[in-house]
Amino acid sequence: MLQNWNELETSCKDCRACGLCETRHHVVFGVGNPKAKVMFVGEGPGENEDLQGEPFVGRAGQYLDKLLAAVDLDRKSNIYITNIVKCRPPKNRDPLPQEQEACIGWLRNQFALLRPKILVCLGRVAAMKLIKPDIKITKEHGEFLEKNGVLMMATLHPAALLRNPNQKPAAFEDFLKLREKMDELGCDIAKG
Ligand code: URA
Repeated sequence: MLQNWNELETSCKDCRACGLCETRHHVVFGVGNPKAKVMFVGEGPGENEDLQGEPFVGRAGQYLDKLLAAVDLDRKSNIYITNIVKCRPPKNRDPLPQEQEACIGWLRNQFALLRPKILVCLGRVAAMKLIKPDIKITKEHGEFLEKNGVLMMATLHPAALLRNPNQKPAAFEDFLKLREKMDELGCDIAKG
């Protein structure tokens, strides 16, 4: 039977399915409104996230909050944010395929409980895992694609935007498209 959010979070926090459990300080389960219709998925926790137990709280996260605020979204009210892997890969390396596989069940359960109408992949790792393995994110970001009744879109990772500020306007366009799509589908729970 499907677990509820609290049960799922509690069992996730005990997970020892891969080696990342050895070096973590916190399991970073997710943050947001469990009734949201829009889910954001990043790659995996970094140092600040590992220390605080919340996704996207470092510099990249602060930039993500700015992009969200620009289109009237907020991590606590109308979206849900999580990652492909829930524990920090050492030195922020990409999560290995076997780590992603070991962790993906948690995301599947979160997805099943939330039943989002729109899923936004933050960066290449999430987009390759959830949209298609050969996605070219610099070319295909901002494009909506329907998969089993869910609209999926990839956008540039906020950490990549901090490294390449010239890509910020393109990412902002993606967020505007997201806002438009949410309004079209009436899936901003803050607006009722
Ligand atoms: N980068 C990610 O992909 N996820 C986080 O939670 C933080 C940084």
